[in-house]
Amino acid sequence: MLGSVVLRRRREFAWGRHHAREALVRLGFAPVPILSRADRAPVWPLGAIGSISHSSSDCGAVVGRSSDVLALRLDIEDEEPLGADLLPIICTPAEIELSEWSGSRVGPKLIFIIKEAVYKSYGPATGEFLDFQDVSVRTNDQSGMFEAEIVNSEKPMSFGSRTINGIYLLFEGGILALAARFRGA
Ligand SMILES: CC(C)(COP(=O)(O)OP(=O)(O)OC[C@H]1O[C@@H](n2cnc3c(N)ncnc32)[C@H](O)[C@@H]1OP(=O)(O)O)[C@@H](O)C(=O)NCCC(=O)NCCS
Repeated sequence: MLGSVVLRRRREFAWGRHHAREALVRLGFAPVPILSRADRAPVWPLGAIGSISHSSSDCGAVVGRSSDVLALRLDIEDEEPLGADLLPIICTPAEIELSEWSGSRVGPKLIFIIKEAVYKSYGPATGEFLDFQDVSVRTNDQSGMFEAEIVNSEKPMSFGSRTINGIYLLFEGGILALAARFRGA
């Protein structure tokens, strides 16, 4: 049992690194090994910024040039719906009222994943944690883009703004969200 957990973790780690290296090469970076910091954060090559995420069956990586991008964080999760008891914890009353998605299987889970990506990009930038109720999310199913607003005014801004934008994607078996802050945006 322990052996299979270790094996799975090794595979997951290797796949994440594989995708990250491929993405770096596509951007024109040399295919160098991506090491890990003591806190497990990947060490990106000079001039690059990126993020890796895993669900139980998928993994992905995203990278950008740090000359263009200030923050980039990915979250990938299985599409398993959230328990109904979690809905008022994860979603604000305004989000719950949004009829477009509140009746759908993945709607609340999508909000959860977006908030995870936002939280992961916000924490390192500000040194602060966010609760789910600190953030209000609006999604646009036509464009696949989201806008997340830090609605708790006691929380600091992130890179001078209360808004964090990104994209989301529903794929077979999973959902991903990517929160990004571009320089000059
Ligand atoms: C640590 C963290 C990434 C785990 O997230 P998760 O949803 O459990 O796991 P995910 O699969 O999405 O991400 C795991 C990957 O994130 C990366 N990662 C791990 N720790 C990280 C960190 N501290 N910072 C950035 N990336 C990290 C790794 O690439 C890891 O995969 P790998 O070990 O196979 O390379 C997430 O909780 C996080 O970013 N927390 C932010 C902490 C923070 O903001 N601190 C400052 C506030 S004071």
